[in-house]
Amino acid sequence: MTNSFRFPTRLSLAQTPTPLQPLDRISARYGGPRIWVKRDDLTGCSLSGNKIRKLEFVLAKALDEGCDTLITCGGLQSNHCRATALLGAQLGLRVCLLLRGESEQPPDGNYLLDQLAGAEIRTYPASVYQAKQQELLDGWARECRGQGRNPWVIPTGASDGHGAWGYVQASQELSEDYTRHNISPEYVISASGSGGTLAGLHLGHRLYCPTTQVLGMAVCDDAEYFRTKALADIESLCRLYSVSAPAGLGKPEVIDAYIGEGYAKAGREVFDTIRQLASTEGLVLDPVYTGKAFYGMLREIALGRFQGCRDIVFVHTGGVFGLFPYREFFNQQ
Ligand SMILES: Cc1ncc(COP(=O)(O)O)c(C=O)c1O
Repeated sequence: MTNSFRFPTRLSLAQTPTPLQPLDRISARYGGPRIWVKRDDLTGCSLSGNKIRKLEFVLAKALDEGCDTLITCGGLQSNHCRATALLGAQLGLRVCLLLRGESEQPPDGNYLLDQLAGAEIRTYPASVYQAKQQELLDGWARECRGQGRNPWVIPTGASDGHGAWGYVQASQELSEDYTRHNISPEYVISASGSGGTLAGLHLGHRLYCPTTQVLGMAVCDDAEYFRTKALADIESLCRLYSVSAPAGLGKPEVIDAYIGEGYAKAGREVFDTIRQLASTEGLVLDPVYTGKAFYGMLREIALGRFQGCRDIVFVHTGGVFGLFPYREFFNQQ
């Protein structure tokens, strides 16, 4: 084991560094700390969002292993699956997507882009997907091998010991942003869906900006799940790349009070937050991840959690294509 955090090889796929911008109108409205946004929604156009940073490392590894096919899974509107489908097309790889949901739904948002990118798609009802996800992934991988292909299976959200590098590297970028803007934020906050972004931010901030506390806003599972998952991803990264986590790493902070009715189910308050951000800052959030997390952050400001803080950073992790399938919810008053 060594302590040098020399980054492994990554593909250069994302448009980085992304900007760090203050949101002064919304900050003034809430009267708390100055809110900054890390614009990872700008990592690309169709390739927007946090997944690209993870996939830069995952796909470098997959190509290094000689893979010619990517297999991954997620919901019908998965941003991760859309990113994998488009990157696969860009790199000349076949992409197999195992999606949770009903295929009869009209192609929209990410699901439409998956199809345009030429991904092979299999959809399963939620109950089957939940019960048999690993079995189905393994089965498809076996099938590919039987056809002479060399598949690489990427877990949900590319959240594993390879993908976690994405937000370690983003943390290094953020530390340069903090220096350039002459700020020392007390918190950096992001939505947590499969935990890899949280894992990378937690490890990366300990390494590059240890005075900034990482805070995950859960959009599905509870806080303990994400604390444990983030540490598992970090342990996996350390094992796979023979590096040691810094002493006293601890667990990241996670809030699970804003999940609402569950994954991909947003309440009126989330749709109102999305409208508010779009109309006051020109910033577009989505109902599944960033809208929920941003709403949670605003509530926590109102409740006094960030009292005494000067600057907090919200990582905009993308997801705009997932907004459109929710169009009817914006018209309900
Ligand atoms: C737009 C968006 N934001 C945030 C997340 C959460 O990131 P993670 O899965 O790394 O927790 C995801 C994916 O799950 C996402 O698609």
